[in-house]
Amino acid sequence: MTDSDAWEIEDFALDDLTEDDFAGFTESANRFSEEVMPRATPFTPKLLRIYLGSPDTIRRVHLIRGPKGDILGYSTTSRDAGETNVHILRAVTSVAPPYRRQGMGTHLVRHVAGIAVDMGRVYLQGEAWDTVEAGIAFAESLGASLEIQNHMNWIEVPAVDHELMLHWIDDGPGRAPEYEVVVVEEVFPDEYFDGFANLMTIIEQDAPMPEQREARQWDAASIREFYDHMLQGVAVVTATAIHRETGHMAGMSQLIRPREAPKTIITTFTVVDPDHRGYALGKWLKAAVILRGLDRWPDASEIETMNAFTNDAMLGINHEMGFQHDYTVNTYQARAEDVLDRLTP
Ligand SMILES: CC(C)(COP(=O)(O)OP(=O)(O)OC[C@H]1O[C@@H](n2cnc3c(N)ncnc32)[C@H](O)[C@@H]1OP(=O)(O)O)[C@@H](O)C(=O)NCCC(=O)NCCS
Repeated sequence: MTDSDAWEIEDFALDDLTEDDFAGFTESANRFSEEVMPRATPFTPKLLRIYLGSPDTIRRVHLIRGPKGDILGYSTTSRDAGETNVHILRAVTSVAPPYRRQGMGTHLVRHVAGIAVDMGRVYLQGEAWDTVEAGIAFAESLGASLEIQNHMNWIEVPAVDHELMLHWIDDGPGRAPEYEVVVVEEVFPDEYFDGFANLMTIIEQDAPMPEQREARQWDAASIREFYDHMLQGVAVVTATAIHRETGHMAGMSQLIRPREAPKTIITTFTVVDPDHRGYALGKWLKAAVILRGLDRWPDASEIETMNAFTNDAMLGINHEMGFQHDYTVNTYQARAEDVLDRLTP
């Protein structure tokens, strides 16, 4: 009998994990994120459930447990909840350090590739961080190809240049006289949801993504569901650019702060509608949201943001603000059938 015969894999929908199971899974997930993202603040089980349970994604957990019930290794798989990307199953795998290099990661990925093939999914996609050599070597050992790289960038709060931010805000009306920037906290006025959905769809279409990944279409109802879910776990400040004459929401930028992990603020969802680009709205929005966020959360110590390597526009703004590279997230992809063939003895 090989080790892999002894490693039974249990599959769970997220909601089927008991409180105890979920607490154990949170410990494993925190160990994982501490290793791959060294500055990450640990999740509480509640926050992890909210984070993983986003209504736009169907997620499952695949666990290998030891005799005492502790988690030795796991994969999570996820797919779009709607009709998009029905050819893709995303997966991330983690093995506890004492059990590495014994084939457990391979055993988990073989299992996940089998699930993908049974579901008719063509591609497996997953992430490996440049902070952990083993993850990259492992992805390559599966025959996966590197599809896209994202930078994690960060800045310490005291290093934020308030003068520069004020300058971008002061310059805003001069460079974009037909617009106003409105900043809201948490609750969006109802009439914002159509504009929010449109901008989220633009992000999906414009932000660099793996070639096989289709952009999702958001509408007011789906974005409201996503946003309401997110608000259970995070506090949010949003700056929106409104085109005065038409009322069109031309751009937005958001700051989110996990309610239970408050040292970090995340700057995200910065987008300007292509028909409204070229008026420095991106800088105005970003400066407005950051200054409001720092005012609201004076005890936060750092701001972080994720950007694709190729997103020159966003990186240009972030570098000017003083954001620095922290680590790189590599998205790998392989055909599920090829992985299964390769890993089946
Ligand atoms: C990546 C990870 C899941 C691998 O788990 P594992 O059980 O040790 O992997 P396996 O024993 O099945 O290794 C399979 C192959 O991957 C490659 N590999 C794995 N770890 C490696 C390392 N440290 N250095 C070089 N190659 C490595 C090897 O080719 C290995 O085959 P070999 O042992 O016959 O040479 C584990 O190291 C881990 O949890 N890392 C942190 C999380 C992470 O980065 N996950 C990203 C992957 S989605």
